[in-house]
Amino acid sequence: MTGKYQKVFERSITDPNGFWGEAAEQIHWYKRWDKVLDDSKKPFYRWFTGGETNTCYNTLDRHVEAGRGDQTAVIYDSPVTNTVRYYSYREFRDLVAKFAGALRKMGVGKGDRVIVYMPMVPEALIATHACARIGAVHSVVFGGFAANELSVRIDDATPKVIVSASCGIEVARVIPYQPLIEAAIELADHKPDKVVVLQRPQHEWALKPGQLNFYEELEKASPVECVPVLATDPLYILYTSGTTGQPKGVVRDNGGHLVALNWTMKNIYNINQGEVFWAASDVGWVVGHSYIIYGQLIYGATTVVYEGKPVGTPDAGAFWRMIEQHKVKSLFTAPTAFRAIKREDPNAELIKKYDLSKFEILFLAGERTDPDTLEWAQKSLDGRPVIDHWWQTETGWAIAANCMGIEYLPVKPGSPTKPVCGWNVQVLDENCKELPRGQQGSICVQLPLPPGTLPTLWNNDERFLKSYVTDFPGYYNTADAGFMDEDGYVYIMARTDDVINVAGHRLSTGAMEEVLARHQDVAECAVVGVADNFKGQLPVGFMVLKAGVTRPHEEIVKEVVKMVRDQIGPVAAFKTATVVDRLPKTRSGKILRGTIQKIADNEPWKMPATIDDPVILDEIKSALETIGYAAARKETAESGAA
Ligand code: COA
Ligand code: AMP
Repeated sequence: MTGKYQKVFERSITDPNGFWGEAAEQIHWYKRWDKVLDDSKKPFYRWFTGGETNTCYNTLDRHVEAGRGDQTAVIYDSPVTNTVRYYSYREFRDLVAKFAGALRKMGVGKGDRVIVYMPMVPEALIATHACARIGAVHSVVFGGFAANELSVRIDDATPKVIVSASCGIEVARVIPYQPLIEAAIELADHKPDKVVVLQRPQHEWALKPGQLNFYEELEKASPVECVPVLATDPLYILYTSGTTGQPKGVVRDNGGHLVALNWTMKNIYNINQGEVFWAASDVGWVVGHSYIIYGQLIYGATTVVYEGKPVGTPDAGAFWRMIEQHKVKSLFTAPTAFRAIKREDPNAELIKKYDLSKFEILFLAGERTDPDTLEWAQKSLDGRPVIDHWWQTETGWAIAANCMGIEYLPVKPGSPTKPVCGWNVQVLDENCKELPRGQQGSICVQLPLPPGTLPTLWNNDERFLKSYVTDFPGYYNTADAGFMDEDGYVYIMARTDDVINVAGHRLSTGAMEEVLARHQDVAECAVVGVADNFKGQLPVGFMVLKAGVTRPHEEIVKEVVKMVRDQIGPVAAFKTATVVDRLPKTRSGKILRGTIQKIADNEPWKMPATIDDPVILDEIKSALETIGYAAARKETAESGAA
């Protein structure tokens, strides 16, 4: 018997025009589309060409006009500042309309870019929706990135305005943003016209000419109406790590994004209008874009801006307190957050203090949910569904999931379940041939991708083609490797590029290598992501020093650790490096990062046939042991921990 999921899925693949055309009826259009799927410029597929819409009208105005103006749109809960605030749809629409007016007064118009560098405050949502309202393109940069990373994004996006805040607040420290923003602008070739600053009492920013106060500008401005934009016009650019230090500017359009996210709210997450769906992520990541900034508001549900951590704000009961206080129906977070909770409260004692009767489903993504974390979450949550789902910045929404609004399929530990509607997932070998079930290969998606996915990279069609659609003609290359089992469940096992995943954050080892290589004493280096029980992976650096360098190695290590923190940011969590005499390479000179990683992880590895000098691998092994890394892993494996 074919289940409901299978039927809906098959229709999405065989009749994408009908499937997404119907889904698009739920969205407000100023002008209907000419074509649902436009394949006239393959492989640059576009959705809803000719259509005109406005994302902000769909997220705010239409709900107010439909009589839901008093419903809560946004809940702001900030344990680090002791604040809880609720915004109704009407209130939020009015704030956004005024800030849009302020941006317009600063000269921001349709198509202009605005960089948003803010902590988890509701003003980040006001700024992004205000951009959408006037057809400007926002680019949110994660607050954990340093000035240099921000400057690279400023040069690529060339924003007219940067919207920021006077500080961010981490558990143990207040982070003033002024030096960071000013250093980034100083480093960049492009100079924005204005910087708008949300003043926070924890640390004020002494404003200079060209730097404006967020609420003063908002109060002075007149509200403005939504501007119709093309469905294919860009809504935002979100930079993500690639193989090199130059991040990829993933573009999201307006029409396809509205249609797709609206569809996911009920079909994947089983959320209804008026219900609270909390994504405990950050506005700087794609999860934050889709399920803090946009998804809930497109659908008429309630979103949550949480300025805190799973632990330490104040304890490992923070998530349960939030769920009770705000009547959260579903929570979405990264497995690493649950590992953090488990580490502090292994028997989940704190859950018992709270009333979780409204809570139904836990969704996890950002990295593979390891079976131990899955089991602990299931047990701690009294058998409520715990749903791993797999996606990427590029895709904007889940490629594989258990579609809880369609049919709850049996959960298999280690798998994010099956491809979501619209995603024709296949596992291919290097000759682009589909592999039999159970065999590991490159996970690819047959083109066209569904709506809401990246149409291209910002100002870089060439890199889009090279990164995603060249290696496997006719397919999108996810750069994830894995397999599908006999039942069609997907398993994501590893990346095929130099991207690593640290505490649910996607980072480029290539970018870290570029920083290490800039150190005066470093001749050559490699950074690999090695397994870590808590953060999933951690970067470890290997450096070969220039001939004649006699300084103590600890000093050099300290310096490169500081360089990565200063130039990429604390989020890189780069704390370990070691000096080696040589790096293992193939005869053609390629560094064998994969082999180094396997040695560090105590995984079985084969001597690469093309290796230049096998002895070097022994040297790497002892270098790892010297920094306690391999030894620590061995101990963990023996103690049977995750
Ligand atoms: N601004 C400034 N610094 C930041 C920052 C921000 N927005 N976010 C993180 N950092 C800093 C942290 O303070 C930490 O600094 P430290 O080296 O001085 O301790 C460093 O960056 C590393 O941060 P992180 O990896 O987040 O570690 P953590 O110990 O602070 O927190 C978790 C661990 C698991 C609680 C946290 O990583 C988490 O919640 N991860 C989930 C990620 C996520 O939501 N991903 C999106 C997919 S759902
Ligand atoms: P990002 O673009 O930051 O969302 O990171 C995307 C990458 O994170 C994917 O390509 C995967 O490597 C990894 N990832 C995200 N979610 C999952 C998941 N549920 N299972 C396995 N890997 C995941």
